[in-house]
Amino acid sequence: MTNASQTSSNAMWGGRFAAGPDAIMEAINASIGFDKRLYAQDIQGSRAHAAMLAATGIISDNDAKAIGEGLLTVLSEIEAGNFPFRTELEDIHMNVEARLKEVIGEPAGRLHTARSRNDQVATDFRLWVRDQMDAAIAGIEALIRALIAQAEQGADWVMPGFTHLQTAQPVTWGHHMMAYVEMLGRDLSRFRDARVRMNESPLGAAALAGTSFPIDRHMTAAALGFDRPAANSLDAVSDRDFALEFLSSAAICAMHLSRLAEELVIWSSAQFRFVILSDRFSTGSSIMPQKKNPDAAELLRAKIGRILGAMVALFTVMKGLPLTYSKDMQEDKEQVFDAADTLMLSLAAMEGMVRDMAANRPALEAAASAGFSTATDLADWLVRALGLPFRDAHHVTGTLVRKAEEKGVDLPDLSLEEMQAVHPGITVDVFAVLGVHNSVASRQSYGGTAPDQVRAQIARWKEVLG
Ligand code: ARG
Repeated sequence: MTNASQTSSNAMWGGRFAAGPDAIMEAINASIGFDKRLYAQDIQGSRAHAAMLAATGIISDNDAKAIGEGLLTVLSEIEAGNFPFRTELEDIHMNVEARLKEVIGEPAGRLHTARSRNDQVATDFRLWVRDQMDAAIAGIEALIRALIAQAEQGADWVMPGFTHLQTAQPVTWGHHMMAYVEMLGRDLSRFRDARVRMNESPLGAAALAGTSFPIDRHMTAAALGFDRPAANSLDAVSDRDFALEFLSSAAICAMHLSRLAEELVIWSSAQFRFVILSDRFSTGSSIMPQKKNPDAAELLRAKIGRILGAMVALFTVMKGLPLTYSKDMQEDKEQVFDAADTLMLSLAAMEGMVRDMAANRPALEAAASAGFSTATDLADWLVRALGLPFRDAHHVTGTLVRKAEEKGVDLPDLSLEEMQAVHPGITVDVFAVLGVHNSVASRQSYGGTAPDQVRAQIARWKEVLG
């Protein structure tokens, strides 16, 4: 390498260039500012590649040894924070390789044999996203455990169930908590599925067409923990489905977190008082001393925006890209980095909030009986005990609700005589179905809100989680 090529154009690909890039070109082109996050994966991939080049006789064992050791030196420099990142070297791949050359000299130039930055970046990024999938799975599992602990404690605590945010029928606290466990369980399986699908190695696809060197892609795939090498080199360098699957799974998961966050915001208000959030996950107001704000829940309600935004951004980058690699694809990383950071923080914050919050059992129970929440139980009883068609039972119940409303009382507070005035067949047995506890206990259908059913689902989930 001559001095001229070092100063006037890129040291890695400057052979055919007479002049170096404009400063603005360098600014728009360089990714080192963000893709330095891939350093560990980049070095891991390069070490696997060098070992394979030696095993197949493409480079000498000595050169491979020098490369392998030199890369570890570079790794420790980066980890110690004294690696000289250089914008003019564009990205993490060329920064690492250039530094390797400074550290070990001539053998460094043999590392890039039978490889391109196209398969290199695809490999690095895949390894990084795979780690994030594992982190998401662990974070979701921790949150599920926190929800199960809440459900176990309040498996038979009654609360209002809502539709249209209007009191509908009494349900149990445990049942409501377990609803989120189901959602998060689907999120878990989405990440697990995606991880299986993405676990193929792009390394060795080279620029796009494969290589004439006798490489062993199975060897590098195995060394990097991939199940197999990707079967088509064109697809291998240009596929970013794994990142899109990560983002879409993350977006769905963040949507679930947002719904729970919204419930926590409502439930912690003075009007509901269904839960008391811990001080550790609340903030105060600088002007209103009485206030305790559910800021973490509010932020979690909003975080979906960033993750969904990242997903839309990357879909937009990828749509319409001709095969194979285009520089557009460099725009994949910041979106995924931010979405992954956001998701992991969101999962941790929600887990902390759920773990620390206290459900207000008396407030839940008082709200459960308000709003004629056992009207459906009364109608069902009229069908069961008196043999009324459901439509007639609905009408009789509606009349009784109106009567109770006029008197300003709840259904169980009407007298037997008052009920019989509406339908003479009603007997004293009706009172057995009117309390909220009777109501939830009767909902024994599979997946229903009866405490026995809730406990069965808790037991199933505990077995699933091991
Ligand atoms: N920094 C690039 C990226 O993130 C690496 C691959 C560059 N390949 C190339 N042929 N210019 O996509």
